[in-house]
Amino acid sequence: MRNEIYIQEIAAHEGQEVTLRGWLYGKRSSGKLQFLQIRDGTGVIQCVVSKKDVPEAVFAAATSVHQESSVEVHGKVARDPRSALGFELQVRNLIVLQGEAGYPIQPKEHGVGFLQEQRHLWLRSARQRAVLGIRHSIIKAIRDYFDSRGFTLVDSPILTPAACEGTSTLFEVPYFDLGKAFLTQSGQLYGEAAAMAVGKAYVFGPTFRAEKSKTRRHLTEFWMVEPEVAYMDLDGDMDLAEDFLVEIVKAVLAKHEHELRTVLERDISALQKVQKPFPRITYNEAIEYIQKTGHPIRWGEDMGADEETILCKQFDRPVMVHRYPAEMKAFYFKKDPKDPKIALGVDVLAPEGYGEIIGGGQREDDYATLKAAIEHHQLPPEAFSWYLDLRKYGSVPHAGFGLGVERTVGWICGLHHVRETIPFPRMMERLTP
Ligand code: 4AD
Ligand code: MG
Repeated sequence: MRNEIYIQEIAAHEGQEVTLRGWLYGKRSSGKLQFLQIRDGTGVIQCVVSKKDVPEAVFAAATSVHQESSVEVHGKVARDPRSALGFELQVRNLIVLQGEAGYPIQPKEHGVGFLQEQRHLWLRSARQRAVLGIRHSIIKAIRDYFDSRGFTLVDSPILTPAACEGTSTLFEVPYFDLGKAFLTQSGQLYGEAAAMAVGKAYVFGPTFRAEKSKTRRHLTEFWMVEPEVAYMDLDGDMDLAEDFLVEIVKAVLAKHEHELRTVLERDISALQKVQKPFPRITYNEAIEYIQKTGHPIRWGEDMGADEETILCKQFDRPVMVHRYPAEMKAFYFKKDPKDPKIALGVDVLAPEGYGEIIGGGQREDDYATLKAAIEHHQLPPEAFSWYLDLRKYGSVPHAGFGLGVERTVGWICGLHHVRETIPFPRMMERLTP
């Protein structure tokens, strides 16, 4: 009997003969013994090939098999308290299915540029495998959160007629006789239409920004989840963002604590502190904080990565900065009734210097005010007439936010750069593989 199993199920098969199918992750030998590290996508196991226990051809195959060759191994599962897995395989048979010498990624330090070029292979390494799994769990936790709270998932288009977040970062595409289209920067405007139909909506998909910034936080293509809720104000929006983030971190810790600790060497205690309440400070207070550290930011200036880092390092959990100068923000923000120079927006900054992971706020719901804002931002009125309709037919206060998946993965996994948070990153200087 072949008894094919996955490495993650190994504990249930102690003492049995099993077959594993995977790839050779690494290898070392000590004369009459070959120690093969075999991975199958669910884990890595040490497989011991002993010269005295296997036919000569099998030992020869174990000796010559190349890194990342595909292999099938058959053997007995034995307890091994020294290994991280707790088990090893005593090999009876090894079949090398395919594999050439010269796998480009060696067990040594490679430059990041080289690894990026080899991204299609780099994904197989333990760290990248862990990040893929945690990204998956974050996305699942996001969906579970909204699905279990009465939100309806509404897909927004990727080809759009106009900007949502300002015209400077639009990717243009030719669009038949209609001229040109733009890749979406955010599904928010469509999310607002959806919220008027379903009450609580969320949009989840890829978004695009022709950002000319080469920072560790910027991608040109990234995934964003955007809840939008009718009859919700800015305070409700902050309550939602806070509750949402606490639940996401909790779900990831429940599933991946061990992996975060061992494979990614993440400081778990920093994640465990992500509990309610998050500090809520105004933009004015944030500027004061930053100025006190000696940094020369002035009121009315946007917080860049440096300023965000200074600010979020003061807190042990995410911090919510609300009420920004309206001039800094997109056209759709509702103005503070107490001060029309202030927009009812909120950014959530992750701790430990990770910076903005959420941007959102309350939307302008008054027809005339919104129309004036569209004109003030010199946006094409034809492209926004449908959006203005939402303020004509049953307008209500409403709010929402957008969470960037990659920045969230980067923060939770403790990664230095967003390029490792998405399987195939797209940046200013990178379109391959
Ligand atoms: O703050 P942003 O631009 O907000 C919006 O797009 C709103 N329309 C969302 C809404 O209210 N529905 O972007 C939201 C989040 C940021 O906080 C950040 O996490 C992420 O999207 N983000 C990026 N992530 C990676 N690379 C980039 N270039 C990003 N730009 C924004
Ligand atoms: Mg923002």
